[in-house]
Amino acid sequence: MTEPLDWSDGVPWSERFEDIYYSRSDGLAESRYVFLQGNRVSERWQQKNIFRIGEAGFGTGLNFLATWQLWRETRTQDSWLYFESIEGFPLDREQLKLIHQEWKELKALSKMLLAAKHLSSKLLPDWQEWPEERITLRLHHAEVLPALRVMQSNQVDAWFLDGFSPKKNPEMWTRDVLREVARITCPEGTCATYTAASHVRKGLEDSGFVMKKIKGFAQKREMLHGCKL
Ligand SMILES: C[S@@+](CC[C@H](N)C(=O)[O-])C[C@H]1O[C@@H](n2cnc3c(N)ncnc32)[C@H](O)[C@@H]1O
Repeated sequence: MTEPLDWSDGVPWSERFEDIYYSRSDGLAESRYVFLQGNRVSERWQQKNIFRIGEAGFGTGLNFLATWQLWRETRTQDSWLYFESIEGFPLDREQLKLIHQEWKELKALSKMLLAAKHLSSKLLPDWQEWPEERITLRLHHAEVLPALRVMQSNQVDAWFLDGFSPKKNPEMWTRDVLREVARITCPEGTCATYTAASHVRKGLEDSGFVMKKIKGFAQKREMLHGCKL
C-alpha cells in the first residue's frame, strides 16, 4: 500500500506519524547541517578506504542524495561509501520522484537512484551498487529494531538518527534501539540527530556515546551529536 502523504504545507507530511519528513525552511540545508556536518563525514571519509554510514529512517532519500553529492565532491579516489539505511514504511518510486523534483541540484543523482532495477516492485531494491561512483546502498525495508539486530557490531562510522520526532515516533528512539546503534558503531564512530530530547541523549550516553548539544538547524535551538568511546 502507498504510504499516505499530505502536501498542504508545501513539504511531505506523514499521515501515519503526523510529522514532516524534513524542515519546512530548507530540507537539503538541514540534512547537510545536521547529518553531514554533525558527523564531519567529508573530512573523515578521506582517511578511510571504506566509510560506512548507518541511517535510521530512509524516508525520502534526501539524506542519502545529499551524502552522495558531497561524496562525489570530496572523496578520495580509492575509497568506497557503504550507506546502510532502515525504512519500515517506504515511499514508492513515484512518491520519491515527485519529492526529489524540488532539489534541482540532485536531479542526476535522483535519476540514478530511482532507475528501475526490479520492475515488479514499486519500491527501491534492498541493495544497489554504483561501481563508478564507488557507492553501495543497502536498504532494510523493515522495522527498526529487527533491522538493527542483523547488522554487524563495530562497523558503522557515522549514524544519521532521523526518525520522526520522539514524541510522535517513540519506536525509533527506544533504549533498545539506541543500544543497538551503539553496538554497531565502530570505536570513535559518531552519531548525529536533529533532536535534543533528553531521553535520547541519556539513552545514547548510557550506551557508550559521549554526547554534546550544539546549535540546531535554522530556528531549532539545539541538536545532538556524539562520539563512541
Ligand atoms: C523523518 S523521516 C526520515 C527522513 C529521511 N532521512 C529523509 O532523508 O527524507 C523518518 C522515517 O522513519 C521511518 N520510520 C518510522 N518508524 C519506523 C520504525 N519503527 N521502523 C522503521 N522505520 C521507521 C518513517 O517511515 C520515515 O520514513
